[in-house]
Amino acid sequence: MTRLIIDTDPGIDDTFALVLACASPEVDLIGVTTVFGNVGLDRTTRNALRVLALCGREDVPVAAGADRPLVHPHAHRAGAVHGEDGLSGMADTLPERQTGLVGTDAVALMVRLLDSSPEPVTIVPIGPLTNVALLLAAHPSVRSKIERLVIMGGGLAGGNVTAAAEFNVWSDPEAARRVLVEEPVPTTLVPMDITTRCAVDLSWLDRLAASGPRGATLVRLTGTYRKHYQRTLGHEGMVIHDAVAVAEAIRPGLLRTSRMPVEVECGMGPARGATIADPREHRVRGEDAPREIDVAVDADLDEVRTFLLSGLTG
Ligand code: RIB
Ligand code: CA
Repeated sequence: MTRLIIDTDPGIDDTFALVLACASPEVDLIGVTTVFGNVGLDRTTRNALRVLALCGREDVPVAAGADRPLVHPHAHRAGAVHGEDGLSGMADTLPERQTGLVGTDAVALMVRLLDSSPEPVTIVPIGPLTNVALLLAAHPSVRSKIERLVIMGGGLAGGNVTAAAEFNVWSDPEAARRVLVEEPVPTTLVPMDITTRCAVDLSWLDRLAASGPRGATLVRLTGTYRKHYQRTLGHEGMVIHDAVAVAEAIRPGLLRTSRMPVEVECGMGPARGATIADPREHRVRGEDAPREIDVAVDADLDEVRTFLLSGLTG
């Protein structure tokens, strides 16, 4: 059984990631924390509650976290990709959850869950890394209770929100740098290079829609998102970045990783939010060398797509 905390900014692909976690019998989803990102914190939080209600999960504690980045203002959200409500304008069609937020903020909930967990917990950040950076800076003692971080973020060969930067890292580069460079916590980074290669097509979506009411609801939420990917992929389909990261958290090794240092550009120039990985064999190593993390670089793409579909359809 894998104990998970998911930190999220739903978001269409976040929604698929949350449903995958809820539908997976090998997952104990012990908490969900929300962060600004695709849309504002109020909407990401409302969407997270509704997605958990869709999955019948009144039991999972939810807490809201940061509504802004650590240092600089969030230049813009991703309403054009996910819809202004974060769910293609369909958020209100999802059920309201009876159980509201816990009485604490995201960091306090993560601390409580980690402290009380009988075994280390995998944290899956699938939005900006602000909450996780705050957690590790303010509560370094929880590091020993973290099995690993499985982070959806970064782009090794360019970005999606700018030519250089992927949205989650770009949204709070200072937070991303703290987590990816400074914090000694086992970390697997799932960048957009591999998640994009795992794009799903119309046939995959049709099978999900035909799988039952929950699958049909998920596909119904994807209108705005699929229009965006029709333009960027050049064909029907979409990239469920966050669900690929949760799939790796559920099935360690689903993605093939390589250990390497990753730096984050925090300047205010055109490369802000870029993730610079160093895969060179002959790079500087040893105690003065930069920290290395596991970066997902390859996978059996059809195996990932099959895992996602079977996981989402229960
Ligand atoms: O770049 C993709 C990431 O940014 C995903 O987490 C998506 O939900 C958006 O937040
Ligand atoms: Ca996300």
